Amino acid sequence: MTHHKQLSIGLFGFGVVGEGLYKVLQKTPSLSASIRKVCIKDTTKKRNAPASLFTTDRDELLNDEDINVIVEVINESEAAFQIVSTALRNGKSVVSASKKMIAEHLPELLALQQETGQSFLYESAACASIPVIRNLEEYYDNDLLHGIKAVVNGSTNFILTKMFEDKLDFQQALLLAQQLGFAESDPSLDVDGYDAVNKWAFLLTHAYGIIEHPENLLFTGIQNIHATDAKVAAEKGQQIKLVAQARKLNDGRVASFVIPQFVPQDDHLAFVKNEYNGVVIESGFADKQFFYGKGAGSFPTASAVLSDLSALRYDYKYEYKKLYHHQPNTLANNFYLRVYVSFTDWKYIPREKFEWIEEWHAREERKYLVGVLPVKELMENNWWKTNATSLILTPDPIIEDIAIQQLKKKSLELAGIV
Ligand code: HSE
Repeated sequence: MTHHKQLSIGLFGFGVVGEGLYKVLQKTPSLSASIRKVCIKDTTKKRNAPASLFTTDRDELLNDEDINVIVEVINESEAAFQIVSTALRNGKSVVSASKKMIAEHLPELLALQQETGQSFLYESAACASIPVIRNLEEYYDNDLLHGIKAVVNGSTNFILTKMFEDKLDFQQALLLAQQLGFAESDPSLDVDGYDAVNKWAFLLTHAYGIIEHPENLLFTGIQNIHATDAKVAAEKGQQIKLVAQARKLNDGRVASFVIPQFVPQDDHLAFVKNEYNGVVIESGFADKQFFYGKGAGSFPTASAVLSDLSALRYDYKYEYKKLYHHQPNTLANNFYLRVYVSFTDWKYIPREKFEWIEEWHAREERKYLVGVLPVKELMENNWWKTNATSLILTPDPIIEDIAIQQLKKKSLELAGIV
């Protein structure tokens, strides 16, 4: 029988995820993992655990030689980075759920893992209960990953579901997401797309070996989605979701963005409601695969932390295979996107930047159009995020550079112009 390592845990944070983990561990004695100490910031909050477990002194955990694993599930990303770096340097394995911290410090965290040889696992940081990172690492460990598209933020998906299906207004839906423990303590992180792009930043590393600061990735959130957009979606029999997507182009580079998208009913992602997340992977010979599960909340997130702890018993480490064992991919900036844009006034829309506009409705108070834009236009300007302008990608929005001339010609023919 294999002898598993005994895990003695120092836990940072006892909020939605930390307390969830505490309860989940009590229900899984077979893991032989025990929490030795919990470091918290606020001692005035009532905690559902023995007082002797808690401290406010982080060194009590970081310098305790009997603690071999640090689980870090706190809110502040800079403090989290300090804790994680010290823990790794002090010879401890680390499990973290801090997506913002991981996204913003990835190069340093990669260096620290190489320098210390310690495991640093963070399955819970993206799509909570869905084992997406370990799948990208272990199963899609080759270069046949053609594309990946996903709903990676539970709160925005929850809000969109509640608004469009249960007719709640935005504020009510957000409040509910906060009460249920899905939303970030600063909910604009969810609503404006920061949380989604943070997760996407390191999913791109595991999927394609790309390392890019989230600020440099193309993204927005659901902040400008308007009732008109929902009406148009309903007329087309589609839904609107905040979708993170990456696809390998013909030239080998990777197109990537996190932008709301119209999702037809027969798309796998149409099935993803409320705080669920979903990941559709397209690979060389397997065609499409769909992963689905709860992407936020106490127990779903704790379940992924638990699985990381379990993997630490046999010293599992991410190898970052796409980064270290393959030729890493680079991001593309030469493709086009077919977009829907709704807006209040034509003066906010640079019509001349569109390759073509194939549909427009300009009579009502809120106007909209469907057209094709070079991705560079979205990367370099922000008219599409300001003045209450709402940009939503059409299904399968990517048009390759080489296809554009052909399609242009075809659309002219269809319009009866040539
Ligand atoms: N606020 C995050 C979400 C929590 O809604 O997805 C899980 O990462």
